[in-house]
Amino acid sequence: MKIAIVGAGYVGLVTGVCLADFGHDVVCIDKDQRKIDALERGEIPIYEPGLTELVKSNVASGRLSFSTELKSVVPDAEAVFIAVGTPSRRGDGHADLSYVYAVAREVATSVKGFTVVITKSTVPVGTGDEVAHIIATTNPNADVAVVSNPEFLREGAAIDDFKRPDRIVVGIEDERARPVMTEVYRPLYLNQAPLMFTGRRTAELIKYAANAFLAMKITFINEIADLCEATGADVQQVARGMGLDNRIGTKFLNAGPGYGGSCFPKDTLAMVKIGQDFESPMRLVETTVAINDQRKRAMSRKVIAACGGDVRGKTIGVLGLTFKPNTDDMREAPSIDIIQGLIDRGARVVAYDPQGMGAARELIGNIEFGTNAYDVAVGADALVLITEWNEFRSLDLDRLKGVMKSAVLVDLRNVYRHDEVAKHGFEYSSIGRPAGGAPDSAAEAAE
Ligand code: UDX
Repeated sequence: MKIAIVGAGYVGLVTGVCLADFGHDVVCIDKDQRKIDALERGEIPIYEPGLTELVKSNVASGRLSFSTELKSVVPDAEAVFIAVGTPSRRGDGHADLSYVYAVAREVATSVKGFTVVITKSTVPVGTGDEVAHIIATTNPNADVAVVSNPEFLREGAAIDDFKRPDRIVVGIEDERARPVMTEVYRPLYLNQAPLMFTGRRTAELIKYAANAFLAMKITFINEIADLCEATGADVQQVARGMGLDNRIGTKFLNAGPGYGGSCFPKDTLAMVKIGQDFESPMRLVETTVAINDQRKRAMSRKVIAACGGDVRGKTIGVLGLTFKPNTDDMREAPSIDIIQGLIDRGARVVAYDPQGMGAARELIGNIEFGTNAYDVAVGADALVLITEWNEFRSLDLDRLKGVMKSAVLVDLRNVYRHDEVAKHGFEYSSIGRPAGGAPDSAAEAAE
């Protein structure tokens, strides 16, 4: 099947390359000539494990190509995916749909024959209706079915998520789209991945509801972590005890410094706005947004407390900057607020991240960078682990202690255990775990 993907950003590129890998004939379109030139040279503008290799092999097989010319690609396509950005609109949190609508207008004047136009970008409820309206008014002769097919791709695991999805959600209003979408996802369908057909508005809402729920789940366990700190309970054991209940599930119950990234912050805000627009308030989501915002800054106070209440003139080494490991994405990363909070209180911050330092340099003023974990520890009054990259999971604690001014470790991802770190002479604080380790952990180990 001939497929056009408009927008060669994160979602567009992953979608395009995976569909090419399924055997379709895919062209990824982007207005940015430099991006297309780079892609044609095999240079991938984002860091995503496995993506470069997959792009290369599909380009080599002739199934994947790139173009800046929407008008020369769309007429041949049976399916056109819109995968352009929907950033939070400045000031009000609404998703900015201007890019989506601009593409809809261009597609309207280019389609030939019956074409399925699919919104892959995360868009508020009713956007599919508006896209259909724009296409119909721009070109009354265009024969299109507008479909909503939200993505559920995690950065760092996007290819696997695309190829082994829990479900594929397809919102249609025109039955002619059903066989086309079944054909697009044929390999997954044959693997028995649930292909769920719904109405278009329902599909749009599923995406927001799923992301808001996950953000709420994380925020819930983060508040439980605070309660654990106040009561002497252990959040990891509480999470396990809750999560083993199949109705709850163990995933997304890792307490931390708050969620970040390109999706949860933006989508929760947009969902709040959708609720307001439809006079159906999303109060749980509103509260989730507020708690998560406050939490990021609160983490800098936690670091300050671990440093004896004052960081003025002190050097803080930071391990990990990106909003999670295996990405170079710094969008809404908790590290930004935490580091800013420390700098505002007079600290000198030296950070290291395997992929995020380029973006961090643009976002955080007055930050310095080291070349590895041991480098940022040199002369540091405390080390703060913000992102749980694998290379921070088995640090040589003696070596760190040897170069630090004082051996203080603040572990905002609960990577280490209190007893093992204390053995090396560190003062250790983490998230929602009692200083002496959980009294009942030994009993569990003995079981
Ligand atoms: C998310 C969704 O998972 C994906 O389905 C959606 O389509 C896009 O948004 P992503 O933003 O890539 O994916 O990352 P994810 O792994 O979901 O993590 C988001 C944030 O939550 C990160 O900051 C992460 O550190 C945090 N998180 C996640 C926790 O703090 N605890 C957890 O248990 C899980």
